[in-house]
Formats: sequence, C-alpha cells, structure tokens
Amino acid sequence: MSLTQEIIRKKRDKEELEANEIAEFVRGVVDGSVTDSQVAAFAMAVYFNDMSLDECVALTLAQRDSGQVLNWQAFDLPGPVIDKHSTGGVGDLTSLLLGPMVAACGGFVPMISGRGLGHTGGTLDKLASIPDYNVTPDTSLFQRIVREVGVAIIGQTAQLAPADRRIYAIRDVTATVESVAMITASILSKKLAASLGALTMDIKVGSGAFMPTYEESLRLARSIVDVGNGAGLKTAAVLTDMNQPLAACAGNALEIRCAIDYLTQPTRRPRRLHDVTLALATQMLMSGGLADDQAQARSKLESALDSGAAAERFAMMISALGGPRDLLDAPERHLGRAPVVLPVAAREAGFVTHINCRALGLAVVSLGGGRHRPEDLIDYQVGLTDCVELGQYVEKGEPLALIHARDRQAAEQAVSELRPTFALDASAAAIPATVYGLVE
Ligand code: URA
Repeated sequence: MSLTQEIIRKKRDKEELEANEIAEFVRGVVDGSVTDSQVAAFAMAVYFNDMSLDECVALTLAQRDSGQVLNWQAFDLPGPVIDKHSTGGVGDLTSLLLGPMVAACGGFVPMISGRGLGHTGGTLDKLASIPDYNVTPDTSLFQRIVREVGVAIIGQTAQLAPADRRIYAIRDVTATVESVAMITASILSKKLAASLGALTMDIKVGSGAFMPTYEESLRLARSIVDVGNGAGLKTAAVLTDMNQPLAACAGNALEIRCAIDYLTQPTRRPRRLHDVTLALATQMLMSGGLADDQAQARSKLESALDSGAAAERFAMMISALGGPRDLLDAPERHLGRAPVVLPVAAREAGFVTHINCRALGLAVVSLGGGRHRPEDLIDYQVGLTDCVELGQYVEKGEPLALIHARDRQAAEQAVSELRPTFALDASAAAIPATVYGLVE
C-alpha cells in the first residue's frame, strides 16, 4: 500500500503512476481516507502535469468501479445500448431530440445527464421544468423505462461513479476543472458505469464551448476517443460548432417547447439544430450497428421524425417518468411563461458577424435560468427566444433576441448585458461550419 502523499508526490514530480496506485487513491476518495486537501493537491498536480493514456484509462476505470455498474443482461434487450454526451453548450437541446429518435430506430438510450454548468445549460434542468418529471428514479425504474420506451433521460444517481462526484466537487472549487485528463475520466467513468455498447461524444467548438480554442476541443476529442476505446467502450466524437446557440432559444422550459415543436412539426426544425442532431444520431446508429452507412442512418432518422414515432417515444418517456401525459398536445398548460418579454433592439442595421455565445449563456444564468451556487433554485420559464443567427441581416430597431424575464428590472438588465454580445457590420463575415468533423 502506498502513502497517499507519495502518490501525490509522484504526480507532482511528473512520474508515471501505476494503475494500482491510482485505484488505491480512488478507493480512498470513496471510503474517506483521502482528505479534501489531498484530492485538491492531486487534482492540481494532474492539472499541471497531465496524465498518460494508461494513467487516464486507469483513473477512468477506477472511478467507474467506485460505485454501481449497470447490468443489462437480465433485460434481454433486442438492440444496442448507446448514448451521446456533450461537453456543454447554449441552446443545445439535441439530447431531448436524438434520444427519442434513436429509440424509434431500435436503440436503447440510458442517458444520464447533468445540470447546467457555468454558462452552459443542462438537459436535467430542462427536463426538471416539466411538472412532476422524476429526474432521479431508482435504478430499477430507470432500466425498466429504457427497456419499455427505448430511452430514459435522468440525473446522475448517488450510486454511479461516486468517486467522480467527490473529485468533481473539489475540482469545481479549486480551479482544476479544465484538465483534459480529468474531464475525460469524469465523463467516461459515468458512461462506462451505464454499461454502454457505444458512445458518441459531441465536442463543442467556439465562443460558447467549454474549451477555449479549436485545438483544445480537438485535444479533448482525441483524449476521450482514445481513453474510451482503451477502457473497452466503442467511442467516437463529432466536433460541432458553438459560436452561436444551436436553436434560436436558450432557457429551460423554452427549450422543452422548442423540442416539442421540432419533434411534432417538420417546418419548425431549425437548420443548425437539425444538422447537429442528425450528425450525432447518425453516428449513434452506425456505431450501434443499426445502420450500414450514413445515408441509411439518416433516412431511418428522418422517417422516425416524419412518422411521429420519435415524438411518441418522447411523450412515453415523459409520462413514464411522472410528467403530464398530454405535454405534447398542451405544452402551454404545463410549461408556463415568464411574465415579461422584452426585445433587444438592434441599434444599427447590418449583418450579424459575431455572437459571444458564452455571454449569452451567462445572461440566461443572470435571469435566473441557471445557478450561481450549487444550491440555487432555477427559474424555469426565463431565457431567450428568437435569437438572430450569424450572417443574418437585421434592420435598425429589429430584435436581436427576445428576453423572457420574471420582472421588468431583470429584463432591462438582460437587455444591457446582451446588446454587446452581438456584433453587426455593413458586410457579412464568413459563417462557421455547423459540423467540423469526426474523430474515431
Ligand atoms: N462534465 C463532466 O461530467 N465532468 C467534467 O469534468 C467536465 C464536464
């Protein structure tokens, strides 16, 4: 047995840790024999000195094994267990769409998602805006719904990867979140604990992404793909753009409305949202063996949408988890509206050449749609809609976005926060691609 401080010292001095040393450290994180300050020191040593592929695989597996690992054998599923995970974005509701779409194509999607983090929205907070939706069912109900409906989206349970939960909480308050090795181990340990057959990662790139540059996003993609496959999980990553919100809205209940529109009305599928959703879902079907090629995958997914099969899976998931049975027919009745709606009027005419997507996400947090502290309550109805897109021409006085706020003061504050996030120019600038590429 090694002394905890010796394990930390080795990492501090840039020596390679053995898998058994990492496993021992992680066991101590769970049984409490490793203190908060030792976790913080370890995290800072990893932040500065990084980890080799072998070390990162060992950390991922140790975190996975720190708690319950789901077993799907007893459920005798007639299709692959597949999932998607994103590094976080703004106005990004792809999980709500592709989970039901993939389920309608024969996949089984046990999606364990997170709350909003910093400026990014969380799928869990969006679902929590639906009255009575149970985001924390016990494992047996979760697995039963996945078996019966094909998809269930819930929050991380206390039993899954508890080591990651403690390490993450300490990283969050010690400026050590942005370590590629620890982000990789954190995400993958939870996905491995769900015993997936394949994972598709959505790695965001741009002003609203978690990683600051394209190169860093690519490095994270490479790390997750290599470590995922090294740990026995078939993993691929799609790099997608986050220089502007994916949908024209951001905010919890507002994004649920947008998801319902997308699933039920072919004319209300915003192009970039559709492109990214299809790129990710296509990859999921292909890695799960549900399609031979991209064309076949896309055609299956389009028919799941057009036939209403995906919308039906979404409705089934909502009611199986306690939400209203008629949510898709009567969203107005259940989702509520913020009382004040105010436009952010353009001060001049021009083409939208830049959107500070991170600032836009932070404005939603300021309105009450996200948290400043972990214990904060969320105002589900607030946020933005009708957000302009890069390349769009706007006349002077036309809205750049509509703000949905709890009161007039909050709305006016958001207007002044948001106006500088949009840059307009007399000539149009190049518009970034929506999907950059695949890392396998
Ligand atoms: N999401 C996670 O689950 N873990 C991280 O470390 C970062 C984002």
